[in-house]
Amino acid sequence: MATSSTQAVPDTRDIPEHVAIIMDGNGRWATRRLLPRTAGHAKGVQAVRRVVEACGRAGVRYLTLFAFSSENWRRPAEEVSLLMRLFVQALEREVGKLEEQGVRLHVIGDLSAFEPRLQELIFAAQERTAHNDRLHLTVAANYGGRWDILQATRAMLAAEPGLAAQPQRVDEERLSRHLSMAWAPEPDLFIRTGGEQRISNFLIWQMAYAEFYFTDRFWPDFGAAELQAAFDWYRTRERRFGRTSAQLGEDGAQ
Ligand code: FPP
Repeated sequence: MATSSTQAVPDTRDIPEHVAIIMDGNGRWATRRLLPRTAGHAKGVQAVRRVVEACGRAGVRYLTLFAFSSENWRRPAEEVSLLMRLFVQALEREVGKLEEQGVRLHVIGDLSAFEPRLQELIFAAQERTAHNDRLHLTVAANYGGRWDILQATRAMLAAEPGLAAQPQRVDEERLSRHLSMAWAPEPDLFIRTGGEQRISNFLIWQMAYAEFYFTDRFWPDFGAAELQAAFDWYRTRERRFGRTSAQLGEDGAQ
């Protein structure tokens, strides 16, 4: 189990170990160029490729991307279906490269809502890259932070039915074992592109102590230089995890 930021003070480094990103602004990028919104998503896939490569080079171990939220089904049907096609294409085209680059792919979210062909491709891609460990790339698809906490609660009770009669035995450690990303450390750095400053039901449990970085840049324009700017900013942050600044200066404090 990874260290919980509310239970113990995690080790921190200059380069974030886990980066989580909301890739926002694809639609506006396209609209400004008088293109259909879907052209922005297609361009967004290229940015995903750049950022995966840059994270691998920088030594980031976990990169988690919010590709499709539980609420994104509310978009026009045409846009939803284009996004699904892009996922399928990306899985078909990129999985070989991911495997070569030492990337392990994980997909989190309620996958039961996706068509069977997409589910099969997702399982096959996860399987094919399962031996890799250099960079864990997690794509959140039909994901919502509240959904994650609810599914974890259900899974915990299913695993230990006796808990319902002993609620005092339910603690953070017990519940968080069942969260979608229980195998990963919590995000150190959260990036949102596109100018909005919201968490939008992303990893709401896991980001209790993440540093939040916002940029006006639209996702299709995001790449290695913008990622480096976020890392430079991250390095200046004093991560206290509830302690005082003075405590950080004491011997042994991170
Ligand atoms: C937000 O921009 C972006 C999305 C909802 C989809 C993100 C998907 C991709 C980048 C492509 C596929 C990803 C993978 C992992 C293969 P928006 O449409 O909300 O932009 P707007 O705020 O300007 O309207």
